[in-house]
Amino acid sequence: MDLDSSPPVAQDKALTVLGLESSCDETAAAIVRLDADGRVEVLAEKVRGQNDAHAPYGGVVPEIAARAHAEVMDGLVEQVLADAGLSLDALDGIAATSGPGLIGGVMAALMTAKGLALGAGKPLIAVNHLEGHALSPRLSEPLDFPYLLLLVSGGHTQLLIAEGFGRYHRLGSTLDDAAGEAFDKTAKVMGLGFPGGPALEKMARSGNPDRFELPAPLANRPGYDFSFAGLKTAARQIWDGISSPTPTDKVDLAAGMQRQIARSLAQRSSNAMKYFMETYADIDDLAFVVAGGVAANQTIRQALQDAADSQGFRLIAPPMKWCTDNAAMIALAGAERLRRGETDDLSAPARARWPLDAASAKLDPAIGSGRKGPKA
Ligand code: KG4
Ligand code: ZN
Repeated sequence: MDLDSSPPVAQDKALTVLGLESSCDETAAAIVRLDADGRVEVLAEKVRGQNDAHAPYGGVVPEIAARAHAEVMDGLVEQVLADAGLSLDALDGIAATSGPGLIGGVMAALMTAKGLALGAGKPLIAVNHLEGHALSPRLSEPLDFPYLLLLVSGGHTQLLIAEGFGRYHRLGSTLDDAAGEAFDKTAKVMGLGFPGGPALEKMARSGNPDRFELPAPLANRPGYDFSFAGLKTAARQIWDGISSPTPTDKVDLAAGMQRQIARSLAQRSSNAMKYFMETYADIDDLAFVVAGGVAANQTIRQALQDAADSQGFRLIAPPMKWCTDNAAMIALAGAERLRRGETDDLSAPARARWPLDAASAKLDPAIGSGRKGPKA
């Protein structure tokens, strides 16, 4: 059935939108109000993780993730409606991540949203998860376009310029593994548990990052792409070469790995900041946003802060709950699209791959589809 047969109609009233997210291993629902003047208020939100379910396998298992999403999604929707004191009737639209991500997982949010949209007679908005991340800083503070964004998670590592709503220019992305994937896989090899990123950061605290010689991916090369597979393999080879690793070996390798990832992210981001300044020479407020779970890492934050300081950029990191996967960013992206009259019909597909920037995907298929990591 087509809920959206009329042409797009922009709306200038306050919009209240329910957002649903289930593209990886977080199930989430949120209700966001977007005022006519662009102010954003998160009225209610819930996130349910699945770490315990995946921990025995050392990574996200798609079938387990899909089932877990389906089991809890309806309950989360009821909870956020109750927390916000709203009925479905009070909503202006229903948004769901429809990709990119694990297809079985994406279906949970998208199918729920379709059912609710059909039942309540509300518009459906199929949201690109990456657009959610790109707009996430606007959940906590007003931020004018354009700004530079580093999205660094378990599934993605990319630098893009948010030029305006629906207009994103990808400068570069990882040629192989995502940064979070490099953390997770190295942590797994070292037996640090799942999720690996936080565990490896903890280990690294007392380590000597200079002890082991690790490659510096794409160092001193121009451009905005990333590569972490070689670094990950080098760390594994070092680990395999130690017959009975001591606690010192463990912390030193963790520290070296973390430092190399931090340096690479900072160096490629510096290149992107220079490009941004050349492109937008007349902008006073130079903003560099970092989003994604890896942004929780303090060494990485510091490296990005130093890079931003030396280029004259303001580093903006959304609060952690909006940095990692959440539904508030999906509700916000949905509300912005609804404001512009861009809604979807019930045939909107779930997509495993969905580049945010179709133009660069066509030019360079290697970076086109946003490579997925173990979390995806
Ligand atoms: O954004 P996110 O919650 O989910 C997606 O990948 O979409 O990011 C999770 C990733 C995992 O790879 C996790 O190991 C990594 O972020 N991560 C960290 C830290 N906290 C989470 N990596 C390094 N240091 C951390 N403190
Ligand atoms: Zn994400």
